[in-house]
Amino acid sequence: MRKKVYLDYSATTPMKKEVLDEMLPFFNVQFGNPSSIHSFGRDNKTAVAKAREQIAKTINAASDEIFFTAGGSESDNWAIKGVAYALKEKGKHIITSKIEHHAVLHTCQYLEKEGFEVTYLNVDAYGLISLEELKAAIRPDTILITIMFANNEIGTVEPVKEIAAMAKAHGITFHTDAVQAYGNLPIDVKELGIDLMSISAHKVYGPKGIGALYVKKGTKLHPLIHGGAQEKKRRAGTENVPGIVGFGKAAEMAFEDLEGHMESLISKRDRLIQELKERIPFMHLNGHPTKRLPGNVNICIQFIEGEALLLSLDMVGIASSSGSACTSGSLDPSHVLMAIGLTHEVAHGSLRITIGDFTTDEDIDYVIQQLPPIVDRLRQMSPLFEKVKGGN
Ligand SMILES: Cc1ncc(COP(=O)(O)O)c(C=O)c1O
Repeated sequence: MRKKVYLDYSATTPMKKEVLDEMLPFFNVQFGNPSSIHSFGRDNKTAVAKAREQIAKTINAASDEIFFTAGGSESDNWAIKGVAYALKEKGKHIITSKIEHHAVLHTCQYLEKEGFEVTYLNVDAYGLISLEELKAAIRPDTILITIMFANNEIGTVEPVKEIAAMAKAHGITFHTDAVQAYGNLPIDVKELGIDLMSISAHKVYGPKGIGALYVKKGTKLHPLIHGGAQEKKRRAGTENVPGIVGFGKAAEMAFEDLEGHMESLISKRDRLIQELKERIPFMHLNGHPTKRLPGNVNICIQFIEGEALLLSLDMVGIASSSGSACTSGSLDPSHVLMAIGLTHEVAHGSLRITIGDFTTDEDIDYVIQQLPPIVDRLRQMSPLFEKVKGGN
């Protein structure tokens, strides 16, 4: 059988067996509605409360500050629209960055059509925002700063604590999209000064379609989904109990040995980067060399089409990505790679390899063995590369 190596952990992660085992009874045995007052309902209410507690613990929040949603996208939408609507009498200005996930960017663009004003901060060549530029962008009518914890494409980790402090000093609510950071970096919402934070289960070996929004006590936030009284009347809809239970278990497991998890990923990541650099000329790393997600490798390989590279890798069983999960499939160069200053041509030769808990040293060896000859073969078809080689 052909070898298969999954290296797209930022797109999604495989669910852990322990997580699945925990979830299974909630589909058909313990299936009650948590809002029902009979025992079937009560049991499930307890299960939801347990998961809320499990997740709260991992970020040093109180359990009544965790609100379940249908995933990272909903959490981002809720945080941004929820603050905008709640504070619109105070001001209509929002600050974000140019490299946010589309769940943030498109929400901001939607609000612009509704009369809000949005400043999109630049990033440097590593993908870091500038605190000076942030400070200069703050206005008396700024109500929200939303900057991601870590970028999903290039892995750069933003200076969240400093951003939060600046927001607080100006009385501005601070939201961070931590969908990629959660489970891969330590996060203490109190210590960091975060008001709202989006997380998602399927990036941490939990199920898809379930996420959460951390809402610091006292944060003004309008509901996004109206209906029943679930989630303290702030997010209506019968709870996705199997998903919630799975998220709770996945969260608990992700933080059991966070340091060990990080160390293991960082050593594999750095070995892969180093070995590829030695074997592939005209290749460079996107994102910050150290302020980056433990499992993220994003490289640009010049004189190559990213799509051709992806397909060739897929043919030898390696699953990777040319950009974010959401942008692959489109021919537009990634907005993140554009924002860090790459040209269209270079951006098109980008490859994102993201490693995770089930990645072995042999998997890394396999990429080191397979990728360089693929690059050579594809470059042989590139007239541009021929020119460079010939020195013309
Ligand atoms: C940074 C970031 N935010 C938000 C999302 C959306 O999360 P979900 O897939 O749970 O809706 C993703 C998913 O790729 C992401 O990487």
